[in-house]
Amino acid sequence: MITLPKVETLKPKSQPHNFFIWGATMSGKSYFASFFPNPLVLNTDGNSEQGSAPSIQIRNERNEKGELRQSAIKQIDDVILALQNQDKTKPQFETVVIDVIDDICTMFEQAICFDNGVQALADIPYGKGYAMFNTALQQFVIDLKALPMNVIYISRELTNVDEKTGRKSYEPSLKTKYYNIVNGNCDLVIRTQRLKGDNFYRSIEAKRTDYKPENITNKRVLKLLETIPGMFKKESK
Ligand SMILES: Nc1ncnc2c1ncn2[C@@H]1O[C@H](COP(=O)(O)OP(=O)(O)OP(=O)(O)O)[C@@H](O)[C@H]1O
Ligand SMILES: [Mg+2]
Repeated sequence: MITLPKVETLKPKSQPHNFFIWGATMSGKSYFASFFPNPLVLNTDGNSEQGSAPSIQIRNERNEKGELRQSAIKQIDDVILALQNQDKTKPQFETVVIDVIDDICTMFEQAICFDNGVQALADIPYGKGYAMFNTALQQFVIDLKALPMNVIYISRELTNVDEKTGRKSYEPSLKTKYYNIVNGNCDLVIRTQRLKGDNFYRSIEAKRTDYKPENITNKRVLKLLETIPGMFKKESK
C-alpha cells in the first residue's frame, strides 16, 4: 500500500525552472537565453549558426512526393528521449531553449495536416485535428517539464493598436490558447526590450511566487535573474 506523507506545514524553497521569454525581434531573447547553464537550443528560424549555443534545427521534412519524411513532433520526441538519457560521465545539457515556440506550434499543426492529407486542422472531422494538436503540445510541455533541466520558451511580440485612441499594447505573439497551455507550466514570464541607444531591458511580466535569491541554487541563473528589475523583493536581497 502507498505510504502517505506526514501531516505537516512545509516551507518550500522554490526556484524557477521553466521560463517564458517574449519580446520584439532583435530585443535580446536568444542572447539572454544563451547565458543559462549549458544550453541546447531547439531552433526553428534557421539562424542557429548565429548563436553561440549548440543547437538542433527542428523541421518537418517531406519527400519528393510531398509526404512527411520526418515530422517535427517525432523529431522533438527523439530529442527529449536523448535528453532523458544523457551520458552522466560527460558534461550534460542543463537548459533546453525552444526558439521560437510559435513556430513549433505551427510545425505541429502542419505535421498533423500532412499526416491526414488536409490543408488545415479544421478539415479533420469532429474536431479531431484540434484534439490531436492539443495532445501533442501538452505532451511536449509536460515532457520538457519533467526533465531535470531549465526550460526556456521564446515567443515573438505582437503589437495591438487601439483604433479609437491609437494607443499601442504589446503581448506575446503565441496564440492565447497555446500560450495558456505553455504558460500554465512556466514559473517566470520575462519580456525583453531594446530601447533607444541600444539599451537592452528586461522586465518580469509574471512570476509564480516570490522567489528568494538564497534559494536559487545555480549561481549563474541567480546572476542572470538579478539583471532583471523587480525579480527579487528588496528586503530579501
Ligand atoms: N543585453 C545585451 N547586451 C548587448 N548586446 C545584446 C544584448 N541583448 C542582445 N544583444 C545583441 O542584440 C542582437 C539581437 O539579439 P538577439 O539575437 O538575442 O535578439 P532576438 O530577440 O532573439 O531576436 P529574433 O526575434 O530576431 O531572434 C544580437 O546581436 C545580440 O548580441
Ligand atoms: Mg532570437
